Amino acid sequence: MNKNIVILISGSGSNMAAIVETARTQRWQTRFGARVAAVISNKAAAQGLVWAKAQGIATAALDHTAYASREDFDAALMSGIDRHEPGLVVLAGFMRILTPGFVRHYEGRLVNIHPSLLPAFTGLKTHQRAIDMGCRFAGATVHRVTSELDHGEILDQAVVPVMPGDTAETLAARVLTQEHLIYPRAIEALLQKG
Ligand code: GRF
Repeated sequence: MNKNIVILISGSGSNMAAIVETARTQRWQTRFGARVAAVISNKAAAQGLVWAKAQGIATAALDHTAYASREDFDAALMSGIDRHEPGLVVLAGFMRILTPGFVRHYEGRLVNIHPSLLPAFTGLKTHQRAIDMGCRFAGATVHRVTSELDHGEILDQAVVPVMPGDTAETLAARVLTQEHLIYPRAIEALLQKG
């Protein structure tokens, strides 16, 4: 497959940074001919954009509020992504629901990370819901993206304990440290498969 990786973010971009750093330390370019070609955000103020730019990665911001419809935004986003001829499109904290047309366009090369042990807790507020349900364990899942929200083949998972007294914030921070391990690992496994 074409080994260009395009990463979509909306915020801090810590998963994106973990992927970029792993690409470097694990020499993805030499081993797989793979590189992070671009980081694109729907928010111009996303901190991750500043970091990515400083790494010499192409960045772009497309403000979704400037588009009349979800379809218009996704069409603009697709052309921004396709300019980099991606073999893999990586959603890393990209807080937008994607249109079926977008998902179809990238079928087989679109992956996401979700902060729960899927199939439990699809959707938002995953950490608070795990605490409220009395879960002893929580975690994160890397999965392929299909038209059904937070479904699609599971590529990797990590488990963390829920500790007494945890808040959504403390649990989220514990889960996030694992996200930074499993997301690069899952992508490397895909690159290895070719
Ligand atoms: C992560 O917890 C991810 O699972 C969720 O949003 C968060 C993004 O964090 N969907 P970051 O932008 O990668 O730091």
